[in-house]
Amino acid sequence: MPVTQFAVTDTYEYLNGFGGYKESEAIEGTLPLAANSPQKCPYGLYNEKLSGTAFTAPRDENQQTWLYRILPSASHQNFEPVSASSSQGLATPTPSFGTHFNAIPNQLRWDPFDLDKEVSWIHSLHLVAGAGDPTMKQGLGIYIYACGTSMPEKTAFYSADGDFLIVAQHGVLDIRTEFGKLLLRPNEICVIPRGIRYHVTLHNNEPARGYILELYQGHFKLPELGPIGSNGLANARDFQTPVADFIEDYENTQWTVYGKFGGNLFSAKQSHTPFDVVGWHGTYFPYKYDLGRFSPVGSICYDHPDPSIFTVLTAPSHPHGAGTAVADFVIFPPRWLVAENTFRPPWYHRNTMSEFMGLIMGNYDAKGAGKGGFQPAGASLHNTMSGHGPDMQTFEKASTMDLPPTKVGEGSMAFMFESCLMVGVTEWGLKTCQKVQESYNAHSWEPLKVHFKRPESSRGVSNGEKKHAVGDAKDASSVHALR
Ligand SMILES: [Fe+2]
Repeated sequence: MPVTQFAVTDTYEYLNGFGGYKESEAIEGTLPLAANSPQKCPYGLYNEKLSGTAFTAPRDENQQTWLYRILPSASHQNFEPVSASSSQGLATPTPSFGTHFNAIPNQLRWDPFDLDKEVSWIHSLHLVAGAGDPTMKQGLGIYIYACGTSMPEKTAFYSADGDFLIVAQHGVLDIRTEFGKLLLRPNEICVIPRGIRYHVTLHNNEPARGYILELYQGHFKLPELGPIGSNGLANARDFQTPVADFIEDYENTQWTVYGKFGGNLFSAKQSHTPFDVVGWHGTYFPYKYDLGRFSPVGSICYDHPDPSIFTVLTAPSHPHGAGTAVADFVIFPPRWLVAENTFRPPWYHRNTMSEFMGLIMGNYDAKGAGKGGFQPAGASLHNTMSGHGPDMQTFEKASTMDLPPTKVGEGSMAFMFESCLMVGVTEWGLKTCQKVQESYNAHSWEPLKVHFKRPESSRGVSNGEKKHAVGDAKDASSVHALR
């Protein structure tokens, strides 16, 4: 599957390439020549700067964009809190991170999350897990979205808390952003950076569901490739950014802008559309990516590399040390397994990193599928130092099977949000959603069988004792008793 075969054609125009400087104008001549802030902008537009980093961030990390728009976003009435019970409310606000996350060491797995035909985008956002605090710009939040209606006309949403990495699992999102329009289909992801306003329409009014990682600190970048070289994994050219596209709606009109700010939702009325950007240029913008374009790299002789080899995007956390990420977005795409004399599924492990996994479609090769298993639209969380790995059936099969070259994951796409932080679970994720599989461990790992057979030649040898000492022992059976 070199490129995803989508059921819905994306007819929007995009600018290709990850990051870097980009510019787009819906009307030729919108962007002023040389000056960013001329005394009068072309066509009577206002200019507005949108910064995604400090002005003084190093040049290769600096993300700023100039918007040329009909009216600045500052023109609105006061923001007022939106109650969680409102149809546009945020169902799971997060006013206090320290007290609202349950940090527990158990492995967790969720049955598929339900579609909800009654709600639109904002109210469909359910915070499942996370760490840190958006007011400190540290950490991340993990959401499930499941909506059945488009956002109401003349509304827009933004998060001041962080960048949204949206993983579409079911249904197609038609997203109008300030920067232009993008279509998000299952097996695609998009990133809508902090502060950018957007409106979500459901394509053909069909329900949509997926996963979101909200990054409270920094921004995603492509991982370094090291000895892999200059191509492979997610190639920069396959990322797509919308082109400028605007609405003229500023007379006798009223729009509502919803903002997530410090985990809570606010709304403000304004007498003009926020989607009035006629042209923009800079380094801070939304983008999307087809996971089917990922070029996996793996073992061609024996063993297999760490799953970091499948990293699509990474958000480094410098305080946690070099090579450490507050969030990695990792996928397990269809691929050939050819390694000889190798246990091909993931090995058993306990990691300092936390792993939240989801399944977009198909079957994940390390876990049983079907009811009670790891299913599309379900999820799992393996927290810091919580042991996990293939379930019993997968181990028994993989450790005895013939090892011809095998394609795994055909028609499947699993992914992982991996974090260096201990990820806590919300009350909604643990109880309200009623999707936690209570017997996850009992089904997966408690049944693991003992295959250990002490070789005859080692009889009488006990751990921690030198051989000659054991040989000197008068009663070897007492040594056995210590085992
Ligand atoms: Fe893992």
